[in-house]
Amino acid sequence: MVHSIFITPIFCIFDTLLLGGQEEHKKMKIGNQNYQSIWIDENDKAIVKVIDQQKLPFFFEIKDLRSVDDVFNAIDDMTVRGAPLIGATGAFGIYLATLEINSQTNIREHLSNAARYLISCRPTAVNLSWAVSYVMEKLKKHDSPASLIKSALDAALEICEIEKENCRQIGKHGLKLIESLSEKKKGAPVNILTHCNAGWLACIDFGTVTAPIYLAHDKGIPVHVWVDETRPRNQGAKLTAYELGQNGIPYTLITDNSGGHLMQQKQVDIVIVGSDRTTRTGDVANKIGTYLKALAAFDNSIPFYCALPSSSIDFNISDGFKEIVIEERNPEEVTNVSGFADGKIQTVRICPEDTTAANYGFDITPARLITGLITEKGICRATEKDIKEMFSDKFN
Ligand code: MRU
Repeated sequence: MVHSIFITPIFCIFDTLLLGGQEEHKKMKIGNQNYQSIWIDENDKAIVKVIDQQKLPFFFEIKDLRSVDDVFNAIDDMTVRGAPLIGATGAFGIYLATLEINSQTNIREHLSNAARYLISCRPTAVNLSWAVSYVMEKLKKHDSPASLIKSALDAALEICEIEKENCRQIGKHGLKLIESLSEKKKGAPVNILTHCNAGWLACIDFGTVTAPIYLAHDKGIPVHVWVDETRPRNQGAKLTAYELGQNGIPYTLITDNSGGHLMQQKQVDIVIVGSDRTTRTGDVANKIGTYLKALAAFDNSIPFYCALPSSSIDFNISDGFKEIVIEERNPEEVTNVSGFADGKIQTVRICPEDTTAANYGFDITPARLITGLITEKGICRATEKDIKEMFSDKFN
């Protein structure tokens, strides 16, 4: 259900407090109001509210999710997207499942069916199964509907707080990379290339890739972002451009094929992308096209970093190529393009009718092409040894 609509332009301010030399993010704002990309309706706790990312940047609409099916559909049609956000949405899905319990319900069967159903929705981002399993684990200790409901809500809200804190820390660690490049360039703008959207919209708050950029900008370090449009759904053009623009970050939108040329021309100082699933050995699954950026960066000796919370690391797998399922989406996302015309969002075909198209959602960037991982615990090399040192508690 659509709750409210604002026509763009929307003002979005990312404030930073400088507290005793410690950089601190404040919440994202739209207009004068603080926003996260998901929250609970304060007047009716049975409603989960999300920003409809299918409509941005053209319309700002808030959707109400009231059932497990609503949550499944919102993840499936990408009303919500981005690894940490789909995880949090899945967690709230289990909370909504607890609200569906009645006197006839076989509680354990109902909850595990809901968990399986939600996890099946998008296969690549590990955050979804991590977050759903996190809530399910908490529910093991409870039997009564009231305590299941409370515990599921607490766990889903806790996941939001964990992800927000992860992004805060990623921001602080990533800032050091930008500061050091800025010093080397004697204050000339640091050119950062990114792919897809790993911003606050994808992450509840702050973003992974964007957190260091926002902090650098707010510290007065000149930055400029090359934004890959990110076909087929154009999350770069629609969402990253929107976020950066609203926060006053200089950016230039480029086609997905421009990165290599810009790197050859020394127009890129660093590439920072997100991750949907990272193996314990450092292979990274991210939005389709990421691998080609890594290859070009490697060939041009440009640092290539992946910014990711530990909720995006799958500590059980070692081989990204063999063990990560790559989501294949509707080919119509490739044969068609949607944009804004005549006051509404319109979709047009860009190829002959009946064209056969393939739509791979993600690709794998092998660890050897990655300079480092920016995590909430610090920056490490993309190797099993370094990941293990940083997250020893997660290794068997
Ligand atoms: O298909 P999407 O829009 O969910 O893909 C998003 C990405 O690939 C992001 O780069 C990734 O989720 C990292 S989010 C911090």
